[in-house]
Amino acid sequence: MKTKHISLITLLIVIKSLAFANTNKSIADTSAHGRVLLDTDGKPINAHGPGVMYHQGVYYLFGEIKNGKTWLVPGQNWEDYRVPAGGISCYSSVDLKHWKYRGIALKSVVNDPGNDLDTGRVIERPKVIYNGRTKKFVMWMHIDKNDYNYSRGGVAISDSPAGPYQYQGSIKPNDQMLRDMTLYKDEDGIAYLIYSSEDNNTMHVCLLSDDYLKPTTTYVRIFENKRRESPAIFKNKGKYYLITSGCSGWSPNAASYAVADHVMGPWKEQGNPCKGSNAEVTFFSQGAFVQPVINKPGAFIFMGDVWDKTNLEKSGYLWLPLNFNHDKIEIYNP
Ligand code: GAL
Repeated sequence: MKTKHISLITLLIVIKSLAFANTNKSIADTSAHGRVLLDTDGKPINAHGPGVMYHQGVYYLFGEIKNGKTWLVPGQNWEDYRVPAGGISCYSSVDLKHWKYRGIALKSVVNDPGNDLDTGRVIERPKVIYNGRTKKFVMWMHIDKNDYNYSRGGVAISDSPAGPYQYQGSIKPNDQMLRDMTLYKDEDGIAYLIYSSEDNNTMHVCLLSDDYLKPTTTYVRIFENKRRESPAIFKNKGKYYLITSGCSGWSPNAASYAVADHVMGPWKEQGNPCKGSNAEVTFFSQGAFVQPVINKPGAFIFMGDVWDKTNLEKSGYLWLPLNFNHDKIEIYNP
C-alpha cells in the first residue's frame, strides 16, 4: 500500500475534528508527514497492530515494534513481506494525546529460531487485560512463523501494567489456528479471545479461563467463510460492536462491522462503518483497536494501521473519532 501524504490543511481539519469529538484537545498529534504519532520525547511511536488497556486512570498502549529491513519471504503465493520481530512496546497516557514511552513490555530474542519470541518469528497484535482475581496483567498476541502456518496465540503475564511481561508459551485454541486477534474483558470480568481461524476463513470467539491464561472449550464460529481479519471490539449502550477488515495482507480493504447482544453472538452484519472518500479502503488503513474515551460516554477512537508493506518500519497510524448516528457506527476521515 502506498503511504499517502496529507496536506497541512487536511491535518488541521483532522486535529480539529478529533478535538471536537472527544476532548478539548486533539487526541493525537500527527507530524507534517502525516500518520506519524510522536511520543513525549518527540520520537515516532513504534506500536503497530496496537491495543490499549485503561487501568487506574492511565491508558497503556501496546504494539508491535517494527525495526529493520523489510524482506519478501520466498516461495509464497502472496505478498509475505516481513520485518524482524522487535517485541512489544508500551506507552502510557492520561489524555490519549501525550504518550510517554514506557520501554519494551515483551522482549524478542535473537538467534534462537526455536523460540516463539525469536526476531525471525511473527509477533503481532498484542492485547492486554487485567485479571482482578490473580492481580496479573495478561497479554495475548499472535505468534507465527514466516509462512504464517504456525498460527498460535502467545500468552505473557506481568505484575505491573507496563511490564516487563514474562512469556508463558503459545497455544492453538481447541487445536484451531489463531492469526489476527483481539481480547475483550467484559464488565463482569469474563474475558474472550477473538481471532481469525480456519486459514482466515472463519473467525472464532473463545471464552477464556478465569485466570485469562487459557482458552476454554467454549467457542463459537462467526463470519463463516467470510475471510475477516483484524478484529476490534467494543461495547456501547449494552450492545457489542465488532469491526473487522477483509483479508488482503498488508494492502487496505473495506472494513465491516457487526452488532450483537452478547460477545458469543449471534453477530449481525451491518456493512462498512467508514464514510466518505476512500471509505472502501478504510482511508488506506486497517483497523486494530477501538478505545472508549473514559468518562465520555459514546466517544470512541478507531485506531488503524497505515501499513507500508515494502518498508514496514515506516508504517503509520490513523486514529479517528468513531461516532454513533443513532445505533449506526460512522467513521469519517475529515
Ligand atoms: C494482515 C494482518 C497483519 C499481518 C499481515 C501479514 O492481513 O492483518 O496483522 O499479519 O496480514 O501479511
